[in-house]
Amino acid sequence: MRRKLAAGNWKMNGKLASLEMLDSLSQSFGDAGCDIAICPPAHLILPAVERCASGAVRIGAQDCHTAEKGAFTGDISAVMLREAGADYVIVGHSERRAAYTETDADVMHKAAAAQTANLIPIVCLGESLAEREAGQALPVIRSQLKHSVPAGSTGATLVVAYEPIWAIGTGKIPTMAQIAEVHAALRQDLKTAFGAAGQDITLLYGGSVKAGNAADIFAISDVDGALVGGASLTAEDFSPIVAALSAA
Ligand code: 13P
Repeated sequence: MRRKLAAGNWKMNGKLASLEMLDSLSQSFGDAGCDIAICPPAHLILPAVERCASGAVRIGAQDCHTAEKGAFTGDISAVMLREAGADYVIVGHSERRAAYTETDADVMHKAAAAQTANLIPIVCLGESLAEREAGQALPVIRSQLKHSVPAGSTGATLVVAYEPIWAIGTGKIPTMAQIAEVHAALRQDLKTAFGAAGQDITLLYGGSVKAGNAADIFAISDVDGALVGGASLTAEDFSPIVAALSAA
C-alpha cells in the first residue's frame, strides 16, 4: 500500500519559536489520512521531535553525510539524525546539488546511509529550465533516478521527490500534463528497478506548491504528495496543502 506524504522543507529558515506551528498541525491533523513531515534546520530537530512526540507530525532533516562519524567538520550523519529522533532526511536537493556539487553517486550514498540508519531518504530529482527547453527533461530525470537511488529500496525505505529546479521558489509550476508525464515515467522506472516494490514507493511533486494549486496537483495519477518549501513555514499556509492531500 502506497503512503501519501505532505513534507515541508524549511531550508535555512526557522527559529525555536517557529515550532509553534507544529502544535497547530498536530491539533488539526490527529488522523490526516496521510503522513506529515516537517524538515527544519538541524538545530531544531531535537526540540521539534520532542514537541511532536504524541502527534501525527514526523520530523526530518535536510541532508546527511555518507559516513557514520569521523573528521567531517560541520557535517552530521544519518545515525546522529536518527538518534535525535528524525524519521526522514532529504537528500540530493537541487540547492545542494548546485551549491555543493553533489553528484548522483553522492546522493545515492547518502540515501543508502540514511536507510542503514533507519531513516527514510527523500531523494530529490529535477531538471533545469535549459534542460526542459531543450526537450531533455525526461532523460535527465530518469538518469538521476537510476543513479541516485539505492538498490533494494522499497515503499517502506524510500521516497522520491520530483522538483523541477525552475519551479522552486518562483511561483511557476509545470503544466499538469508535464507533471503527469514525469511521474508516470518515474513510476515505470521504479517498477523496472524494484519490481512490485516500485509500485509502493511514494512519489512527491515539489516546486511552488501552494494552497491554490495543491488539489489539482494531487489529482494527478502517481503524485502521492508534495515536498513544500515556502508554504511549509506556517500552519496557515501548510494546513490547506495537508488537507488537500488528505482529501485526494
Ligand atoms: P518552494 O515550495 O518554496 O518552491 O520550494 C520547493 C522546494 O525546494 C522544496 O524542497
